[in-house]
Amino acid sequence: MYDVKPTKGNTKWFTHDRFGMFIHWGLYALPARHEWVKQIEKMTNEQYEKYFKHFDPDLYDPELWADLAWNAGMRYFVITTKHHEGFCLWDSDLTDYKCTNTPYGKDILKMMVDAYKGRGLKTGFYHSLIDWHHSDYIIDDVHALRDHPDRAKLNENRDMSRYREYLHGQVRELLTRFGKIDIMWFDFSYPSHDGFIGKGRDDWQSEKLLEMIRELMPEVILDDRLDLPGSGDIVTPEQYQPFEWITVDGQKVVWEACQTFSGSWGYHRDESSWKSVRQLISMLIDTVGKGGNLLLNVGPTGRGEFDYRAVERLQGIGKWMHSNSRSIYGCTQTPFDIKVSDGALTTYNPEKNRLYVHLVNYPFMGYFSIEGLDEKKVEYAQFLHDASEVGIGSLPAGGAHLDKRVFRIPILKPNTEIPVVEIFLK
Ligand code: GLC
Repeated sequence: MYDVKPTKGNTKWFTHDRFGMFIHWGLYALPARHEWVKQIEKMTNEQYEKYFKHFDPDLYDPELWADLAWNAGMRYFVITTKHHEGFCLWDSDLTDYKCTNTPYGKDILKMMVDAYKGRGLKTGFYHSLIDWHHSDYIIDDVHALRDHPDRAKLNENRDMSRYREYLHGQVRELLTRFGKIDIMWFDFSYPSHDGFIGKGRDDWQSEKLLEMIRELMPEVILDDRLDLPGSGDIVTPEQYQPFEWITVDGQKVVWEACQTFSGSWGYHRDESSWKSVRQLISMLIDTVGKGGNLLLNVGPTGRGEFDYRAVERLQGIGKWMHSNSRSIYGCTQTPFDIKVSDGALTTYNPEKNRLYVHLVNYPFMGYFSIEGLDEKKVEYAQFLHDASEVGIGSLPAGGAHLDKRVFRIPILKPNTEIPVVEIFLK
């Protein structure tokens, strides 16, 4: 259908399934004020230790989480195996800074992978290249100790080659202990420049890491944050909606937007900028209509539960997906040069040759129009949620609209968050 840059990883299922769950979970759920809290508040390991000592998510139930994801229409998940704080969600041989050494004591990642795979979702690991806990990770201009008065002295005993060994060793553990992994999502490179001290491909030895990943899990989908331009399978815009299908060197690429419900990836108790179900569904439709995927994030609490506000939204999205997911799965950008009235959003299923019109702003006059659609191509139209017929043709009593392909709909908006009209094309 489109000339999309080929990928090394298997993105066939990915561009069909379109919708995934991001999960940001770690010690930062306890301070409950953003996953960067250690960095923002410039905490030392000692000051942050209290969260390790009190990490005990006794209500953690990955089967319930997997159900919530599946019923929301999500078909893959990406979990933070380790975030920038350095805390590991699995029983790694390479560190004591892991969930099995906390009061909780169990291997969170193993339980999660089993539950989500068992529910039918594909598996993705987010792994932070950054580590504000590790004793060999050089303190740079982003580190939690960036302004520490003894920064230079502290760095004297730090050896990044030991950290690289740790980083590569843990990625090897992740790719050999949990069965098939479908996505490896590294975050993030911030190369030094103009006096700013950061870290990039040489600090991670990204080429070597990439070689190992391709050897261990050849089909895995890789994101684009190893500071190796062109090495990623997917481009990953974050917290914004691209205006159009993302291209690199003029060619369309496989892309995935990652977004939060609110202003934080990790659980943030007092943050209130939670997007509505309507906004979130519109975001999903808009993304697919531009040929992309949406990775929508939840930040579980320190008791091991999804925030009630996240559950409400997952269930609201799921209610819409229950009867409208045909306009999402297997869909992409419409290839037709058409203009739809009322700001409607479109998607298209190339295999079934069906056009989907999402009436985000429900038309108030009982019809909508599509300019540029060859009327000989239109065979039938229906509301997707209840398969009730949608009238096609010109308005009664003539009028200026006669020259437009007009679809007649009830004045009253049907009882679904965003009504979708499924147009069967010849
Ligand atoms: C940004 C945030 C990081 C989050 C990531 C998700 O890098 O700083 O905390 O994990 O986005 O893409």
